[in-house]
Amino acid sequence: MIQVTLIPGDGIGPEITEAVKAIFSAANVPLTWEEENAGQTTFDAVGELIPSTLIASLKKNKVALKGPITTPVGKGFKSINVQLRQMFDLYSNVRPAKTTKGIETRFENVNSVLFRENTEGLYSGLEIFDERLQIADSISRVTRVGCEKIVRAAFEFASKQGRQRVTAVHKANILKQAGALFLNVFREIAKEYPSIQADDIIIDNMCMQLVVKPEKFDVIVTTNLFGDILSDLCAGLVGGLGVVAGANIGDNMAIFEAVHGSAPDIAGKGIANPTALLRSAIMMLHHLDLKAEADRIEAALEATLVNKEECTGDLGGKASTMEFAQNIIAKL
Ligand code: NAI
Ligand code: MG
Repeated sequence: MIQVTLIPGDGIGPEITEAVKAIFSAANVPLTWEEENAGQTTFDAVGELIPSTLIASLKKNKVALKGPITTPVGKGFKSINVQLRQMFDLYSNVRPAKTTKGIETRFENVNSVLFRENTEGLYSGLEIFDERLQIADSISRVTRVGCEKIVRAAFEFASKQGRQRVTAVHKANILKQAGALFLNVFREIAKEYPSIQADDIIIDNMCMQLVVKPEKFDVIVTTNLFGDILSDLCAGLVGGLGVVAGANIGDNMAIFEAVHGSAPDIAGKGIANPTALLRSAIMMLHHLDLKAEADRIEAALEATLVNKEECTGDLGGKASTMEFAQNIIAKL
């Protein structure tokens, strides 16, 4: 049995987590969950936002599945998601976006995978505020090592998955330092993968191209801020945040997560869509080399998604979170 850390999270987190657990158990996945939470709930209970028991569990298991965690806007604690990524150097944020039969969208045949640098750039946390002058600086620090790791992760993925093309997204025309470093590293590493087509595009043009012809793109690699925005844009092309997977991967640890938030507006009602967390959990199975289990659960999910009435309200159905899970289980 493989042991995995499970972070249920806040809001709808526990509800969608229960659904994924039920599906995994019905599919006899050889895996046990070690449950540890983080955020406001653990702060209220044990006085720690990221409890030491969670850190110990992550260090031991090296693989986790995580529900959404509420982050206060402005004053308050720093995002738990960002803290975990930086604490364990989970430098790749991997976000697949694939058109699914049954989920209505404006496009067909979208099949991209975005690699977002997850620890530096504008989210390095290098921020200064001069109270007297009322000037705020948020520094975008990009390192050669950081660029090399994310670019290599994208090319390695493309090479292993037989993908044709890797596109770097940047703003090196304006960001003469941080942008140029990232682009130069991309061009250097691209030479090591001669069978993969490598090209680059400026972020603003990319946004336009993606909403016009998204099916043109294959693997995409970019820095933190651009990747944050583009990954949600790509999710919108294939049905939204409720249906896409996400993973934070480093050299020694991987945290698979629901990319949407804690959805306080529907929390506790039992109507949240568990697809995003389930798809992240399927990515986790691939990471653990449990391919047969991953394929089996994915097939059952796809077979359910084509019948709208078997799905949750956000997908046009009437099923509760658990009914949707049961509909998937029936197709295993
Ligand atoms: P949100 O993603 O929680 O909600 C946006 C809208 O989408 C809401 O109407 C919600 O009901 C709906 N929605 C989201 N997930 C759904 C699902 N699985 N099924 C059905 N409907 C779903 O974004 P919002 O409201 O901006 O953020 C709420 C909280 O979540 C904030 O505290 C934010 O910081 C946190 N958050 C956490 C993330 C994480 O832990 N990875 C990511 C994004 C936000
Ligand atoms: Mg984001």
